[in-house]
Amino acid sequence: MSAPAVSARGLAKRFGPREALRGLTFDAEPGRCLAVVGHNGSGKTTLLRILATLSRADAGELSVAGRSLPKESVAVRARIGVVLDDALLPSDLSLAEGLRMHADLHGVPSPEARIAELCERFGLAPRQDDPVRTFSRGMLQRAALCRALLHAPELLLLDEPSNGLDASGTALLDAEIRAHCARGGAAVLVTHDLERVAACADRALHLRSGRIDADGPAADVIRALRGGAAA
Ligand SMILES: Nc1ncnc2c1ncn2[C@@H]1O[C@H](COP(=O)(O)OP(=O)(O)O)[C@@H](O)[C@H]1O
Ligand SMILES: [Mg+2]
Repeated sequence: MSAPAVSARGLAKRFGPREALRGLTFDAEPGRCLAVVGHNGSGKTTLLRILATLSRADAGELSVAGRSLPKESVAVRARIGVVLDDALLPSDLSLAEGLRMHADLHGVPSPEARIAELCERFGLAPRQDDPVRTFSRGMLQRAALCRALLHAPELLLLDEPSNGLDASGTALLDAEIRAHCARGGAAVLVTHDLERVAACADRALHLRSGRIDADGPAADVIRALRGGAAA
């Protein structure tokens, strides 16, 4: 059995007097998509930012992609692909140029072919030479997904990746997550969209006020939420 993609034990984080995470213990497994759901302010983004090495927990033990955080954050960064509310691409560069920078950073083999393939797959090929600042919200989200997938990371960390996507973008997102997991990769999918959970996730965590309120098969967690039991 391979090591967990994420192993979190007692993760806690506070912002001043506010306890954003109050002791989260969970694993994410290779080949599986773990959804994280919960109301606004329940701690989802705080958790994802810690997993993505962009923030540090105040307490608890954490390993991501087999490396411990915060000690081995450089090694972790090489192994994760992250989508946050910012596309993390320079707005004055073209999409292809921005992706090339990331490809160089990660030592992606045959970067031009990989960039062309991803832009084609995400329907961005006709615009790949335009400055990113001219992109619509949905195009930016597609571009962020291209960037996250570019270096074929072991673990995808996605915060509301369907925001701004149209129906075809959403279908692409679902297909990419499933293909990534079918290849043995892992994904942590933060979303308020229960349809995405149903389409992509094997397991789901429901966060409530920084605590895990439910952790189980995605279908069970969705049923409880739709039934209002855990709303
Ligand atoms: N940088 C910050 N400074 C102060 N409070 C924060 C900060 N980031 C998040 N919080 C607080 O932490 C809690 C969890 O926020 P967040 O993780 O963004 O929730 P979610 O993504 O589930 O909507 C909220 O109460 C929020 O106000
Ligand atoms: Mg959030």
